[in-house]
Order: sequence, then structure tokens, then C-alpha cells
Amino acid sequence: MEKFVIKGGQPLKGEVMVAGAKNAALKTVVASVLTDEEVVIENIPLISDLFLMVETAKRLGLSIEIDKKKRALFSKGGSLKTNKIPLEVGARIRTSSMFLSPLLSRFGEAVIPNPGGCRIGCRPIDRHIEGLAKMGAKIYYDPSDGYFHAKAARLHGVDFTFSKNTHTGTETLILAAVKAEGRTVLTNAAQEPEVDDLIKLLNSMGARIDRVEQRKIVIEGVKKLRGTKYKIMADRNEIVTLAIAALASKGEVTIHGGKREYLKAFLAKVREAGGGWEPKGEEITRFFYQKNFRPTEIITGPYPSFMTDWQAPWALLMTQTQGLSTIHETVFESRFLYVFELRKMGAKIDFFDPQVSHPQKFYNFNWVDKKQNCHQGIKIFGPTPLHNAILEVSDLRAGATLVLAGMIAKGESTLFGVEQIDRGYEKIEERLNKLGADIKRIKN
Ligand code: EPZ
Repeated sequence: MEKFVIKGGQPLKGEVMVAGAKNAALKTVVASVLTDEEVVIENIPLISDLFLMVETAKRLGLSIEIDKKKRALFSKGGSLKTNKIPLEVGARIRTSSMFLSPLLSRFGEAVIPNPGGCRIGCRPIDRHIEGLAKMGAKIYYDPSDGYFHAKAARLHGVDFTFSKNTHTGTETLILAAVKAEGRTVLTNAAQEPEVDDLIKLLNSMGARIDRVEQRKIVIEGVKKLRGTKYKIMADRNEIVTLAIAALASKGEVTIHGGKREYLKAFLAKVREAGGGWEPKGEEITRFFYQKNFRPTEIITGPYPSFMTDWQAPWALLMTQTQGLSTIHETVFESRFLYVFELRKMGAKIDFFDPQVSHPQKFYNFNWVDKKQNCHQGIKIFGPTPLHNAILEVSDLRAGATLVLAGMIAKGESTLFGVEQIDRGYEKIEERLNKLGADIKRIKN
């Protein structure tokens, strides 16, 4: 276990380059299984989730390496030697379940662990499985071994409508359809920019994928995919985390990398809250504190709404705001674990359940997964000066939020479980310290 010791009080100042998107990079490893030719991915983030995905691909028999200096990933296909993802791998990285599609496509058979729950919710893959079954896969879950067993002589195209939005579910079906027999039409498909980044990568490999309407994607199956060289997009979640760090610490930070068009819902809320931001270039944005923050009401949702990954750091910012703010989380059923940690620092946050007429339809998670003791809303009363505390990281975004909290709190805080943060943020303490933070990483 490693920990951070964080001394609060310094406003952040300076410039920072944002890393490549975790939620794009992880899928490039899956896509590279679809060809024997060399796939080179540039602008990759050096994060532990990506290292785990590369390890998983190696265990499948792929020859794949990361060049940390070049920040590039080189995959040469190779002889896939197994179609099974071991349970212990699946338990460490949920996204490994996405190998299902390319394994079915290449082998006609796949055995993957049920990615199942994690700290932010049950996170089943029923929508993924439903779509693959419609494409001709025979899939059953064996509770006695915890694996999904899938077989498909040849995947064929399908007209499929998602019952509810699913980011990786959309990507799973795209990865299955690119070499399937015939045409696939995905309706009510996710439109997160990372999905379009995967589409661009696959099309550069010779796939034929078109987003014909906002939530409709058409894929014409092709026989073979070729190698490519592709640079992935910047990490939107990291931009939002760094921007909030600048605002909450009453500093000013210029962030390089990242298109503002993918951040519209966030930028609008920053304006509404009285935070400052200005474009300094095509992919350069300066965020700065200008006056006391105003309270806001946030409802999270699939893109282009305010993302679920942004609500934890936003909640921290709202603890420094004059008045009552609310956050209504509609994507995951248990994404407020960080509230208990912020309360230890003096934050005044209450849970509540917003009135919703048809919750089964309204919420993005499956209603059957709703737990009585989990709430979908929080009320944040500000401003509350935060003081130091001993903190525990529950999940990736909550962890980043607690780092920011330690940076603005009075005194010295200790944060345990920083491995969770390393999953999705590259050397977060080094980059924040370059902006004036005071964070020490201590290896136990
Ligand atoms: C992706 O998760 C991201 N992960 C998440 O980022 C992100 O928060 C989420 O999309 C929303 O944008 C990656 O891309 C690796 P969903 P994903 O399928 O695809 C339920 C981070 O911190 N659902 O859109 O798993 C599901 O449980 C991570 O970087 C089903 O019930 O999200 C969730 O409640 C966190 N059955 C909701 O729907 C299904 O078959 C949305 O899930 C699929 C999803």
C-alpha cells in the first residue's frame, strides 16, 4: 500500500500537458487483437490500467509492448494461444471483458470472467451479451466457475437497439461487428467521444464504420483489418480534474491538450459557478479563480451531459461555494463513497433521493441493481473550510477528489490506497507538485 501526505494551502499556478485518454487507450489494446499486422498507438497514458490490459493481451499470446519513452504501444498481433481470460485478471481490470468480441471474431470461442461489481456499482454486462447473442454468439454464464462461455461459428450483422446507454457496450458491439458477416446497425448507441476515437482507430485499420446519426452507428463487416499508426485523444476526465484543482485552490492553470467541444457541459457549469476559463489556443484552455463560487445543480448523464466521472471533484468545489448545491447521479448506483471522506475534513454534505417519476427508465443503471442504502442525490452546504484528515480512497475519481481536497485543506492530510489513483492518472503528484502543490508519495 502506498500513501500520499498532502500539505494544503498552496494555490496552483502554471501550465500542464494532459495525458492520453485512459478510456480510449484501454480499448486500443482490444482492437489490436483484430489484426496480425503492427498497430502503433501514440499519446498513451502511462497508467496501471493500461499496463494490466497489455499484460492480459500478452497472456492471450499477443506480442505487444509499451515504449514509455515514446509513450507508444506496439502490437504485432501474433499467434493467439488461448481464448480464456483468467479470473484473477478479470477481477483486476473490468475492461478485460472486452476481449470477448475479438476472441469470438478470431477464434469463434471465448471464456471471460464476469466483470461484475466494483465500488461504484454492480456494472453487469447484460447489454453487451444481449447484442452479441443477436449477432449469433451462444453465450451462457456458469455461476459455478464465474465465467461467461461464448461460442460463435461466424458473427453476423444485426439491427440492434440498446435498451439503455452503455459506453463499453457500444464499443463491444462495434468490435464484434467490424469483421462480422454483413451490416450491423446500432441504435441508441453511446456517443462518448472515446467511442468515436475507437471508431477512428478501427477505420484507420480498414473497418467501415459510420455514425450516421447522433445515436446510430452503421458498420459494414470486412474480411480483414490491417495495421495502423494512431494517436489517441486527450483525457477529458483528467482535464476536468486539473481544472477543478486550479479553481478550488484559487489559482490559475493553463491546460494543454484536449478539445473544448468535448467538455461543453463542464465549461458551462464552470461559468455558472463563477469560475474563470478562457481559450488560449485550439487545444489550450486557461482555468482561473476569479471570485466566490456560486452554487449549482448538477444532474449527471451519458454524453453530452455532465459526466458521472466529473461529479466527485465537482462536489469538492461546491463545498467552497456560498450556498446549497445539489448533485443527482443517474449513471451509477453507488458513486458517492467519497462523501464519507470529505465529511471527515469538515464538509457538510447530506444524502437525499430526488423524486423521479419512472426511475426504472430514468436511471442508466439497471433498477434491479439499486440498493436501498445507496442514494442518488447529495446536498452540499458551503462554504465549509476543510481541515486535514486521514483518508481512504474508494475508487479512481473519488481518489483524485481526495487529493484535491488535501491540497485545499488546512494542515497535512494522509491518503491511503493511492494505487487506485495510479490506475487512471499518470504520476498525479509529480504533475500537481510542478504546479505548486505539496504532495509526498510514501511507499509503505
Ligand atoms: C465507461 O464505463 C467508462 N469506463 C467509465 O469510466 C465511465 O464512467 C462510463 O463509461 C460512463 O461514461 C471505460 O470506458 C473503461 P456504461 P462503462 O456501460 O462502459 C450499467 C472511469 O472512472 N450497465 O455506460 O462500464 C452500468 O452498470 C470509469 O474512468 C448495465 O447495467 O459504463 C452503469 O450503471 C468509471 N448493463 C450504467 O449502465 C450493461 O450491460 C452505464 O454503464 C452495461 C451498463
